[in-house]
Amino acid sequence: MMAGQRSSFIATLAILLLSFVCSTQARRIKRVDQELSARNKPMDLSKFQVPLSNGSATLPSPTAGLSLKAITLGRGTQNYTCAAGSTAAPVAIGAKANLLDVSSLLPLIPSPQKAQTILNLLPQYLVSFDFSVIQNASIPILGKHIFDATGVPVFNLGAKGVLRAKKVAGIAAPKTASKGANGQGDGAVDWLALTEVAGSVGLKEVYRVETAGGKAPASCGGGPARNIEVQYASQYWFFG
Ligand SMILES: *[C@@H]1O[C@H](CO)[C@@H](O)[C@H](O)[C@H]1NC(C)=O
Ligand SMILES: *[C@@H]1O[C@H](CO)[C@@H](O)[C@H](O)[C@H]1NC(C)=O
Ligand SMILES: *[C@@H]1O[C@H](CO)[C@@H](O)[C@H](O)[C@H]1NC(C)=O
Repeated sequence: MMAGQRSSFIATLAILLLSFVCSTQARRIKRVDQELSARNKPMDLSKFQVPLSNGSATLPSPTAGLSLKAITLGRGTQNYTCAAGSTAAPVAIGAKANLLDVSSLLPLIPSPQKAQTILNLLPQYLVSFDFSVIQNASIPILGKHIFDATGVPVFNLGAKGVLRAKKVAGIAAPKTASKGANGQGDGAVDWLALTEVAGSVGLKEVYRVETAGGKAPASCGGGPARNIEVQYASQYWFFG
């Protein structure tokens, strides 16, 4: 296959996968449930590599000796605030996202060789789906991402641990990243590397990569004081 044909083939597979797992048709959901319950040993994540390069800049690698604990797909909102009359850029105040367990999706991908390529395409489709549709498709939600009252990003993965984090590095998302739902929006948030701060249990580092959407408009544009929530999706890779 030519490169162009190959990428449209992969894109089609990703759409099929998502329409399969997000379908609300009872028969299809039942098949997903059967697939999920048939899988009772943990997925081997060792052949997956966290994407670190946007094509020109590179995030630092995970610290030597740490192992990959979970790959998740985040879907939620990045939150910003504008003061009354401000024409400055909106100020980031936090985020809130559900973290879907990717290991439960991998067995549904028809070609294991293509799994990571398809995985990397999923955020741009996920950002266009209303989260309630995804929740209804019974894909396990591994955890939640919030900011605590003191502005610390927190990732709670239940039995897998809790990461309270701080940013160590960030690079712009590639120019080809989805700008938001249906490709419309103000751009994809940066790719980030974050490391643990006090209060973490079982997890030490997380990467936010393959982002889709989440950026605020460049300016508050005057107007009343308000908060802005921007839909986004992303991969989050956890190491511990
Ligand atoms: C972000 O927006 C969500 C959705 O309204 C809200 O639940 C959450 O508390 C907000 N988070 C922050 C840090 O403002
Ligand atoms: C999800 O399921 C709930 C409860 O069954 C239902 O009320 C809701 O309409 C469903 N949402 C979608 C988008 O299918
Ligand atoms: C990669 O990130 C760097 C640093 O943020 C940015 O200057 C550069 O434009 C990005 N490269 C691409 C190809 O998006």
